[in-house]
Amino acid sequence: MIKISPSILSADLLKIEKVVKSLDESGADYIHIDIMDGHYVPNITFGPNIVNSLSKITSKILDVHLMIKPVKPYIKEFINSGSNIISFHPEADSNCEEIINIINQAGIKAGIAIHPDVNIMDFEYLYSKVHQIIVMTVVPGFGGQQFMNSQVKKIKDLYDLRKNKNYTYNISVDGGINDETAKICIDNGVDILAVGSYIFSEGEQQYKKLIKSLR
Ligand code: DX5
Ligand code: ZN
Repeated sequence: MIKISPSILSADLLKIEKVVKSLDESGADYIHIDIMDGHYVPNITFGPNIVNSLSKITSKILDVHLMIKPVKPYIKEFINSGSNIISFHPEADSNCEEIINIINQAGIKAGIAIHPDVNIMDFEYLYSKVHQIIVMTVVPGFGGQQFMNSQVKKIKDLYDLRKNKNYTYNISVDGGINDETAKICIDNGVDILAVGSYIFSEGEQQYKKLIKSLR
């Protein structure tokens, strides 16, 4: 079954404990946490402290998406904060293999996120070591943007590449996902949907219905 990773970027942070509990009960698989540094992307969100707080109130997989540059100086802190998956943008650091090794050796999972301007084959040398590859279908930085159809081919290409080369990564998609764009991604072989504004567009009572509509 397709896994759903709601992005709390679009949630009401004043109610975050209640929101996360409702997501737990509504069939979400992961909690997607968007970390932005005002440098790799033109927006600032959270640091490792929010990951730490969330790890205390949920047993869901904490799917941490780093949109920061550089990456390496902060990796240990994100590992120690209770992240379960840490994904980063490989063009934002020159020590990608080392970063992935640090994450894997800590017993958690590493992921790569692919910016719309990045060619998937440029980072193939990392793919045998990662648990997930996130295809970005918006330019990272903000929730609520429009889905970029131009990026869908990367999902299919990663799907075919996995089959041909026996890789084991999951394919995730992030940005502009709603019930219609989810279908396009699923038809192209995606495994995980990271979803922000669509899930939080209505109240908590609607999470279950909206998550179901994505699947
Ligand atoms: C964008 C973030 C996304 C974002 C998704 O930079 O990485 O995870 O929160 O939000 P929506 O689903 O609203 O595009
Ligand atoms: Zn994200």
